[in-house]
Amino acid sequence: MIESFEKAKAEMNEVGYLNLETKTNIDFAAEILKLKKEKNAIILAHYYQEPEIQDIADYVGDSLGLSYQAAEADADIIVFAGVHFMAETAKILNPTKKVLLPDLNAGCSLSESCSAEALQAFKNENPDHLVITYVNTSAEVKAISDLCCTSSNAKKIVDSVPLDQPIIFAPDKNLGAWIKKETGRDMLLWDGACIVHEAFSIDKLISTHQKNPNATIIAHPESEDHILKVAEYVGSTSGMIDYVKNNSANEFIVATEAGILHEMQKEVPEKKLIPAPSKENNTCACSECHFMKMNTMQKLYLCMKYELPEVMVSEETRLKALKPIQKMLDISAKQ
Ligand code: 13P
Ligand code: SF4
Repeated sequence: MIESFEKAKAEMNEVGYLNLETKTNIDFAAEILKLKKEKNAIILAHYYQEPEIQDIADYVGDSLGLSYQAAEADADIIVFAGVHFMAETAKILNPTKKVLLPDLNAGCSLSESCSAEALQAFKNENPDHLVITYVNTSAEVKAISDLCCTSSNAKKIVDSVPLDQPIIFAPDKNLGAWIKKETGRDMLLWDGACIVHEAFSIDKLISTHQKNPNATIIAHPESEDHILKVAEYVGSTSGMIDYVKNNSANEFIVATEAGILHEMQKEVPEKKLIPAPSKENNTCACSECHFMKMNTMQKLYLCMKYELPEVMVSEETRLKALKPIQKMLDISAKQ
């Protein structure tokens, strides 16, 4: 294993893995398609991935859709073009498959904000509370949670809990506050946030709307309250795409990671999509998640070629983490 890893590293070096500026004449798209067939692999990609990765994926979706796809995948290898917690969830749901992530450092600020130790301490302080965690967490955090949720099913998951049951919601305080308002439930919120969604500027958003008065503002619930207040629709990435498709408006200001615009524009080529502006971004009007963008076509190719890096979860943690994820999928699937 060590030997093959060293060999892989050397070959990765040759094609510029450690120096991403290195030019190669490899046609990554063609090679990835070849490897996909040869190795019986499936590529799952999140909407925030770069356009070339989305275009080559077998399935592009939100966290919930990707979880269902991962659970049902019968390929030998699941290549997860997303961030670490997503690939880990795939491994938890489908443990006999090899799960690859093009860049193991593709993390998430929400996941980083909530360690299992800190959550356990918070649970100990509030022993009568049921713990609902957003899927943007590590397997260890899921393992000590009662239920998981994504942005597309958070309301349904919270509603499934008896009214007299107090809840801890972690780690996204913005999603938590929005759900709290939507459901009227009293929930203790963890103090975590998404660095991308917290970066939207309300002043710039209002001035963008003044310049585009016919545009409808739509936002992801990881955004701050003042952004959600001016949004006509709040929902997950898939929810936002469906809304733009089914709404009669022709212009939208989109407050989520800019990668979504690729799939959204494909769905509504005739509509004008404007990325919501960030607070400190003078060169580009959009917001990008640097974790999501760590995956590149080159790294996707290399990870499929060498079957590295692989995402692993200990069986003990996996079995514990599976429970709240499976409960979420079961509740979500109910009409
Ligand atoms: P959804 O795709 O589930 O809406 O989540 C967005 C997100 O933050 C993924 O990192
Ligand atoms: Fe995490 Fe935010 Fe990036 Fe999603 S967009 S992976 S929540 S940091």
